[in-house]
This record gives sequence, C-alpha cells and structure tokens, in this order.
Amino acid sequence: MTSGRLPSSLEDNSLSSEIAAFRRQGRPFLDLTSSNPTRCGIPYPEREILAALASPAVLAYDPDPRGSRTAREAVAAYHGHGLDPDDAVLTASTSEAYGWLFKLLCDPGDDVLVPSPSYPLFHWLGALEGVEARPVPALRFERWNLDFTALAEAVGPRTRAVVVVNPNNPTGQFLSRGEWDSLLAFCAERGLALLVDEVFADYVLEPCPDRLATALLEPDPPCPVFVLSGLSKIAALPQLKLGWIAARGAAAKGLLDPLAFIADQYLSVSAPVQAAAATLLRLAPAIREGLLTRLRANLAALDAALAAHPGITRARVEGGWSAILRIPALEPGEDCALRILRTTGVLVHPGHFFDLPGDGHLVCSLLPAAFPDGIKKLLGAF
Ligand SMILES: Cc1ncc(COP(=O)(O)O)c(C=O)c1O
Repeated sequence: MTSGRLPSSLEDNSLSSEIAAFRRQGRPFLDLTSSNPTRCGIPYPEREILAALASPAVLAYDPDPRGSRTAREAVAAYHGHGLDPDDAVLTASTSEAYGWLFKLLCDPGDDVLVPSPSYPLFHWLGALEGVEARPVPALRFERWNLDFTALAEAVGPRTRAVVVVNPNNPTGQFLSRGEWDSLLAFCAERGLALLVDEVFADYVLEPCPDRLATALLEPDPPCPVFVLSGLSKIAALPQLKLGWIAARGAAAKGLLDPLAFIADQYLSVSAPVQAAAATLLRLAPAIREGLLTRLRANLAALDAALAAHPGITRARVEGGWSAILRIPALEPGEDCALRILRTTGVLVHPGHFFDLPGDGHLVCSLLPAAFPDGIKKLLGAF
C-alpha cells in the first residue's frame, strides 16, 4: 500500500527498543544524545520571545511564497555579506529546505553526493523525493578531508548536486578555504549545484585558522550555491520552525522563481514566526552565548574526565554541538552503546549512526546540563 520511498521496516533498532523499555519501566537514564536546546536548561529571553510572537502582525495572513519581505530582510541583515533579501527563500526548517532543493534540482532517480560521516537524515530526505543521497567518505588524515578522488568517482550521469555541512555534524569540522575553492571548481566543471548547510556555523569552539566561516563570503561562485540555515540552531529555537535558503551566484539566483513555485505549493512558514523573525534574529547572539557557555563547560568537563582514561580520546570540536569519543573497538558499536546504557544508565550514539567508520566511535551531545556527571559514569564502562 505504501510508496517504495519509505523504509521497508519501521521497527526500532535494538538501542531504540532498549530506550523504550527504560521509559516503560520508569527507569531513569542520562541522555547524552539530547540536542534539544529548549530542554537543556539554558537561559532564554523569554519575555522578549513571547512579546515578539504576540505582535498584532501575527493576526494577518499575506502569504508570499518566498516568505514575507520583512522576514527576508531580517535574514539578510542577520547574515550580512551583501545578501539580498530577494535572494532568500524561507522554509519551515532546514530539513524542508533540503526537500525543496532536491525537488528543484532533481528528477526521481537522480542522485546527490552527501558527506560521510555526517548528519543521518540525508538518506531519507533524499529517498522521500525519489533521490539517492550517495555518501562519499571523507579521508581521515589528522582531520576529515574531502576526498576529491572519491567525489569524482561518485559523480554519475544523474548526479545533480553536492551537499556539504559547514561545520559538519558530528565531526565538528569546518571546511578549509582550500577545500572550498576546490569544491567550487569541482562543481563548476561538472555542472553541479552546491548545497552548504551552515546551521552550526555560528558555534565556533576550538581554533581553526583556515576555516571557511561561511559560504556567503563568496559573492559570485562559479556554480549555483544554496546556503541553508535557520532559527533551530542559530537562535536555539527549533520549535518556531523557521529556516531559509540563500542563493549565491547568478545560476542559483536564476532558479529562485522555480524554487518559489515549489514553496507556493506549501506556504509552510507560519505568519507568527515571520512577524517575529527580526526580533528573534536580534536575540539570537545572546541566546547563543548561553549555549556556547554550556558547550565550552561540557567540553572542559570532557577533557578533565578523559585525563584519567588515556585509552579514550576525543576528536577536536571546531564547531557545533557534538563530540566524538574514540574508544577501543572491541565490540560492535551498537552493542557497546547498549552495554553502556545498561551498566551506567548513560545513553550515547554509536558512531555508525552518523556513518563514522568502524566500531571505535561514540557520539555525544555537548548540550545536556548533566553532561559532566554522565561522562564520568560513561567512562566507568571502560
Ligand atoms: C547538519 C544539520 N542540518 C540540519 C538540521 C535540522 O535543522 P532544522 O531543525 O532546521 O530542520 C540538523 C539538526 O540536527 C543538523 O544537524
């Protein structure tokens, strides 16, 4: 009865089943996978947020497929770098932005190249549009390097775009300037669009002198570039559902009318969040400051805890909300996460959840208030 785009089974994996069992039995556990900023006890300017959402403007409905002009102006002013409000299209989330861009650029059966390791939603965001998200493994040498040989080999006759995440989740790594220049040339030579997910770009944690701070620095790229971001990370307000796509370069701007046509079929961005966008974006840096304080404190707590466990190390976290632990690869990743949950009551993701190679990685969120306690307990499992 259902489309072949859907998974053949919606059954839980063994880790999700175990979590469900913990919940059913009322057994507490420390969730170090939680990346929900609204549940981690950081301060929000609540009165200002609520006031912005209560303005009389929220009572009116004047839909514009690209999003209201005032909200797009706020997005352009927030980013700077000469972004024109007319070059932005609002979405309800970054996930929706991917869906719209795949519809824009691909026919069913086409493919896009996606980074690996990375954010696990690409497969299904693509599959639901009939598009294959083809992972291209990065080359691990001191850092995760884009493998241009592997990228070139992965390009097929139906490849339409390359997706990158800057900084990547969960590797926490920014693209280097050199990688960015090569990527632009790579896409231009092959007639591919470039999608740059920058939801974490404003969370810089450890020094990275050569980083591409944002793809928006490139005013006139030689291939169509679409930069994705949204309130969910930059203002830690995922519940308000506002994302956007910024088009860079003449070729991308030439696709804005068809993109607006797609947006017009949904009109999914609510009037209240568009009316509040300018205030919310003005509040974003202060909200982020609270989050950055938490991320830095948890990273320091991680280093302090790891000092007593020389067999376990962490990867550098140039940016983002996650840390990768490198552990002895003595058991399959899922078994390891299950054992940790059962013996210590701490939940972390096995690395394969993000396509990290082998069994020697665990991924944890740096957001939870209980992180210092959780990480000490977790290390007790080794
Ligand atoms: C790299 C990356 N892109 C996009 C998203 C989703 O953002 P949104 O809430 O705007 O859909 C996430 C969420 O974790 C993410 O990690």
